[in-house]
Amino acid sequence: MAGVTLRGVEKRFDKTVVIKNLDLEVHEHEFMVLVGPSGCGKTTVLRMIAGLEEISGGTITIGDRVVNDLPPKDRDIAMVFQSYALYPHMTVRENLEFGLKIRRTPRAQIDRLVDHAAQLLGIAPLLERTPRELSGGQRQRVAVGRAIVRQPAVFLFDEPLSNLDAKQRVQMRAEIAKLQQRLQTTTIYVTHDQVEAMTMGQRVAVFKDGELKQVGTPMELYDRPATVFVAGFIGTPPMNFIAASITDGGATLTAPTFTLPVPATLRPVTDAAPGRRVVVGVRPENILDANREGRGETAAVEAEVEIAEPLGSEVIVHARAGDDMLVAKLDPHRHPAPGETISLVIELEALHLFDAETQQRLDRAPQDRAPAVVPAGNSAV
Ligand SMILES: Nc1ncnc2c1ncn2[C@@H]1O[C@H](COP(=O)(O)OP(=O)(O)OP(=O)(O)O)[C@@H](O)[C@H]1O
Ligand SMILES: [Mg+2]
Repeated sequence: MAGVTLRGVEKRFDKTVVIKNLDLEVHEHEFMVLVGPSGCGKTTVLRMIAGLEEISGGTITIGDRVVNDLPPKDRDIAMVFQSYALYPHMTVRENLEFGLKIRRTPRAQIDRLVDHAAQLLGIAPLLERTPRELSGGQRQRVAVGRAIVRQPAVFLFDEPLSNLDAKQRVQMRAEIAKLQQRLQTTTIYVTHDQVEAMTMGQRVAVFKDGELKQVGTPMELYDRPATVFVAGFIGTPPMNFIAASITDGGATLTAPTFTLPVPATLRPVTDAAPGRRVVVGVRPENILDANREGRGETAAVEAEVEIAEPLGSEVIVHARAGDDMLVAKLDPHRHPAPGETISLVIELEALHLFDAETQQRLDRAPQDRAPAVVPAGNSAV
């Protein structure tokens, strides 16, 4: 097994740069997810690691070998594609055996590897069927099985679950994560679905427009997104953003139609940037019903309900406060009607502050190395 390191990796198609100066280190045994919107370059990165796409600059290392000039078959990787790419005329067993036969693996070992993979994936009863006789989820399992029998140093997955229905996806994503924990094979997994990224990845790398924006554990990305983009991309429903200025020398956040006091925990940040135009981020789960007690310092806001979406465990309320729309996750048993004015409470210590100009998080400094962040609920009041 091996880690994968990308240093200054670039990809150009003719003159168009699609991957810019990419530095990324995937540790041995790690499950790394690459996530980002369509067209941001995820598949291109994976194909460059696999050797299916040449790199225009930089180096890619797998284990201790620079693989820039190695053909795919010598890179000790196995890739699972979105389209399962099974051979339709072969049985499941023949599909699983195919790559091993090409490598002239001895018969006894082939049988052992195939039986082991089939058992891991629960497809042993399907070995004599052809792909046509399988459901989408079963085909996906066979595609994963084909990667497992190869016993590669690295698994590469490109959106392997996108052809499955929602329920199968949830099931398979847990299965793939469990499988990786068991096999401990270094894995790079591409998806555009941030829920998949958060639930599966030990670390997640967020891409936009060919650039790596942030890499960290799911909770690091959630608690301390480095940019407005990452903040809006991670979390559902997405974070609310309010354009404001830091006023009163750092004591107040002033939006066009309302103000929020700055909590003591954020004063070091705002005091250092008086007058700055900022984007204030607040997650829907940090906006509460006024009758609920918030954590730490809070501020009350009145808002007019536009729609309420009951989800059973919670209700997602879209409400207007002045010129701003706020989306809040509220108690499901309270179902406000459109047009109703409701009193909300914002947990101020959970605010995220970004520079309006650069879109970067204002309090970036401690984030880069320190694993722990300001403990939530550490009220200074
Ligand atoms: N062979 C090619 N020639 C020219 N441009 C390409 C080629 N392959 C990909 N691109 C461009 O590179 C960019 C990144 O594409 P890529 O397929 O890596 O995106 P992606 O993040 O995987 O998107 P999706 O989520 O839609 O699969 C896109 O703008 C795409 O148009
Ligand atoms: Mg893709």
